[in-house]
Amino acid sequence: MMFRMMRLVSMLKNAGSRRLALVGLAALVALWAGPGLAAPDIRAGQALARVHCAECHAIGRSGRSTRPAATPFRLIPQRYPVEALEEAFGEGITGSHKGMPDFAFSPRQVDDLLGYIKSLGRRR
Ligand code: HEC
Repeated sequence: MMFRMMRLVSMLKNAGSRRLALVGLAALVALWAGPGLAAPDIRAGQALARVHCAECHAIGRSGRSTRPAATPFRLIPQRYPVEALEEAFGEGITGSHKGMPDFAFSPRQVDDLLGYIKSLGRRR
């Protein structure tokens, strides 16, 4: 990834014409936004959590869950690697999650959501 970025950047530098630079830039943006390569959008993840999870879980850096059984999100990164949830969310958590609606998130949304939960485990 880094290597590809560097190559693109040097391509941009060497490109004599503006037009080429623009094409390079568009490629860079496409690379950046492409699936799997993009960094999770923490804010989008937070928004998803607000809409879909906050009803039961404490989703912030403090506060209690409305449902005592629902783990506050900030504790999740302390308990296990957040990546462990990826599959569950991609497939939509069912059954294991009592009283919880079924979710079917896109890979992008899963990334964002998990990115957000992960960010709660980091010190600010
Ligand atoms: C209607 C209530 C409700 C909603 C909405 C809800 N949950 Fe839960 N969730 C629970 C309850 C209750 C538990 C604990 C009981 C269980 O594991 O079955 C739980 C457990 C979990 C766990 C396991 C925690 C642990 O300690 O391992 C995860 C992860 C989780 N929820 C994520 C989410 C995410 C992400 C969302 C939003 C996309 C969400 N939940 C929405 C009620 C809910």
